[in-house]
Amino acid sequence: MRRHRIAALGGDGIGTEVIDAGLEVLSELARRCGDFRLEIESFDWGSERYLRTGRYIPEGGLEALRQLDAIYFGAVGSPQVPDHVSLWELRLAIAQGFDQYANVRPARLLPGVKGPLAGAPPIDWVIVRENSEGEYAGHGGRAHRGLPLEVATDTAIFTRVGVERIQRFAFGLARGRPRKRLTLVTKSNALRFGLVLWDEVFYQLAAEFSDVSVDRELVDACAARMVRRPESLDVLVATNLHADILSDLAAALCGSLGIAPTANLNPERAFPSMFEPIHGSAFDIAGQGIANPIGAFWSAVLMLEHLGEQAAAARLLHAIEAVTGAGVHTPDLGGSARTVQVTRAVCDALG
Ligand code: NAI
Ligand code: MG
Repeated sequence: MRRHRIAALGGDGIGTEVIDAGLEVLSELARRCGDFRLEIESFDWGSERYLRTGRYIPEGGLEALRQLDAIYFGAVGSPQVPDHVSLWELRLAIAQGFDQYANVRPARLLPGVKGPLAGAPPIDWVIVRENSEGEYAGHGGRAHRGLPLEVATDTAIFTRVGVERIQRFAFGLARGRPRKRLTLVTKSNALRFGLVLWDEVFYQLAAEFSDVSVDRELVDACAARMVRRPESLDVLVATNLHADILSDLAAALCGSLGIAPTANLNPERAFPSMFEPIHGSAFDIAGQGIANPIGAFWSAVLMLEHLGEQAAAARLLHAIEAVTGAGVHTPDLGGSARTVQVTRAVCDALG
C-alpha cells in the first residue's frame, strides 16, 4: 500500500470549508482505489491563531511541514488582519520558503458550465506563473511615513536563474500537451530591463525546444486575446504579477473563481509542493455553506498527479466533470446546490 503524508491547512473563511470538503472526497477516493493511503495532518494556521498568538506559523512550523509529502491549502485572509500581513506571513512564507517557483494554473471550461463569452468558444489553457521573485520578491520599503515626502517602493527582481527555470518548466509542460504551443506574456516595451531579459531567455530556450511553437504577446494585448481569441492560446508563461491577474480573468472566463485550481510546485522535490484553489477566503459568503468546492477538488487532482497517483487523479477529475455536467452547481455558477451537496455528488460519481 503506497502512503502519502498530506498537510491539511484550511486557513480562513471558505478556505476551511472547501478543504474539509476536499478531504472528504479524497478519503472516499482512497477507499475506493484501495492501493494508496493518505495520512492527513491538520494545521490550524490561520488568522484566528495570528490574532491569538501573534504568529501564523508557530516556531519550528515550517520544519514540521517540510517532513510531509504535499500541502493542501485553502486560503488566508481576514477582515481583522491587513491582507499584506496574512499573505506574507502564511502563504508566501510557505511558497517562497519552500522555493515553490512554478505556479501552475489550468483553466478549462468544464462540462455543464456556462462561461460569459458568447458562442462558448473552447478554452483549455495552462498559465505558468513565476512564483518566487519578480514583482512579489518582497524587495522595497517605506520611509518618511505620514510626511508629505513619504516614499514607498516595491522593486521587481528578475534573475537569469529565476527566469530560465520557470520558462524551461513552461516549455517542458507545453511539449507534453497535444498542441505544443507556448505564449510568452511580456511587457518589454515599457519594462526595458527585467522583461527584456524575459524575452531574451525565452528565445534562447525556444531554439532548444524546437518542437514547441512559440509566440509573444504584451500582457495588455494578451488580456484582450483571452477574450477575443481564446482558442489561439495553449500554455502561457508570465511573471508573478501578470500571471496572478490573468489567471483570475481565466477563471472568470471559465465560469467562476470558485472552480480554478493551482499547484505551487518545487519541481526538483527538494521541498513539498502546495495545492490550493486560486480563490481567497471570501468572507462575503463564509459560513453560509455555499462555497464552490470544485476549485479545491481540482487542486486535489493536481496533488494526486504530483504524488504519482495518476489513476486516482483521473478518476477524481472524471467525477468532477460528471457532477458539473449534471448541473449540480453552487450559486456562483448560477445553481442552488450547497457545498455539501456538490461534495456528496462527487463522492457518488467516483465510480
Ligand atoms: P476571493 O477570491 O476571496 O473572493 C472574490 C469573490 O469571488 C467573492 O465575491 C467571493 O464570494 C467569490 N468566490 C471566491 N471563491 C468562491 C468559491 N469557492 N465559491 C463561490 N464564490 C467564490 O477574493 P477577495 O474577496 O479579493 O479576497 C478575500 C480575502 O482572501 C482577502 O483577505 C484576500 O487577501 C484573501 N485572498 C487569499 C488568497 C490565498 O490565500 N491564496 C487568494 C486571494 C485572496
Ligand atoms: Mg490572485
